[in-house]
Amino acid sequence: MSRSKRKLEHIEHALNTGQSRETGFDDIRFIHHSLPDVNVNDISLTSFIGELEIGSPIFINAMTGGGGKGTEGINRQLAEVARELNIPVAVGSQMAAIKNASEISTYQIIRKTNPSGIVFANVGSEATVEQGKACVDMLEANALQIHLNVIQELVMPEGDRHFKGALERIGDICSSLSVPVIVKEVGFGMSRETVKKLKSVGVSIVDVGGYGGTNFSKIENARRDQRLPFFNDWGIPTVVSIAEASQGENDCTVLASGGIQTASDIAKSISLGANAAGMAGIVLKKVQEHGVGGAIDYLTSILYEIKLIMTALGVTDINMLQRAPLVITGHTKEWLEERNIS
Ligand code: FNR
Repeated sequence: MSRSKRKLEHIEHALNTGQSRETGFDDIRFIHHSLPDVNVNDISLTSFIGELEIGSPIFINAMTGGGGKGTEGINRQLAEVARELNIPVAVGSQMAAIKNASEISTYQIIRKTNPSGIVFANVGSEATVEQGKACVDMLEANALQIHLNVIQELVMPEGDRHFKGALERIGDICSSLSVPVIVKEVGFGMSRETVKKLKSVGVSIVDVGGYGGTNFSKIENARRDQRLPFFNDWGIPTVVSIAEASQGENDCTVLASGGIQTASDIAKSISLGANAAGMAGIVLKKVQEHGVGGAIDYLTSILYEIKLIMTALGVTDINMLQRAPLVITGHTKEWLEERNIS
């Protein structure tokens, strides 16, 4: 099957497979304060992704490109949403454009539509330093995302079976690029051990891409109608993964993603240690079902609701929200206790 057909099938199945909401956010509760002593207008949503200052703690995560006009149209819509809200937007893996120059325009549309916004380039951990640089140059990108998608490859019968050397290649890219590098998962989560390894080769920003939202095992299995699907329930739930990655010893910028859908998910992610939250599947769904305007309305409401939550908590900036106390219960509590994470 061609790479471009696969991209279009991923979009179709991502829309149909839905998001499981097994992220763990229901296990997290904030402590209510009856005397917060702040006004909604006092709240600042400014945050940082490494050296990049962002006006709001959300971004549109990597999805597509490399599937001809179909993916180009989606990327144009995502870039319009990002431009109107002044939030970062990522493209999907650019390997298709590295291998076939006729696909470049399906990615560049993001920069063309959003000339002065923050754009993330995207490539897999099989990429060389030259390929990483080419992805950044193609978009005049402000950062490069390197995705880790071992499980998705293993689920695909025709997927990659060679994973040696990825950490070394990531380290080489980090030391050669002039823009920040973000290493991300794609829905299976990162453990604190993974983050520690990444840190050891110079990575300072991780996007946990936790379990509980878009599920590429389910998507790949659905594409093949597998009778015995496996890896469908594999992965570290988003909430646990944020806590694992945010362990003090790791000292990384942590980005939350994997099933983020609401203001409450985002506020809880930040309180667990994240600087910002990425959304992929849900934004794709909003754009496809309600157009660019519908997606903008959805995200605008979320940003306002984050301010309401921060007001209720009596915190006026993202730094204070990161220190807001939480109560952790249920399956998440068990997981964190088992892993000795406080
Ligand atoms: C993705 N994702 C993804 N990630 C990546 O780094 N490179 C890619 O090319 C893609 N492609 C892709 C296609 C589609 C259709 C979807 C829905 C997602 C993964 C994405 O960035 C994110 O990590 C996961 O989808 C989990 O977040 P959500 O969707 O639960 O918010």
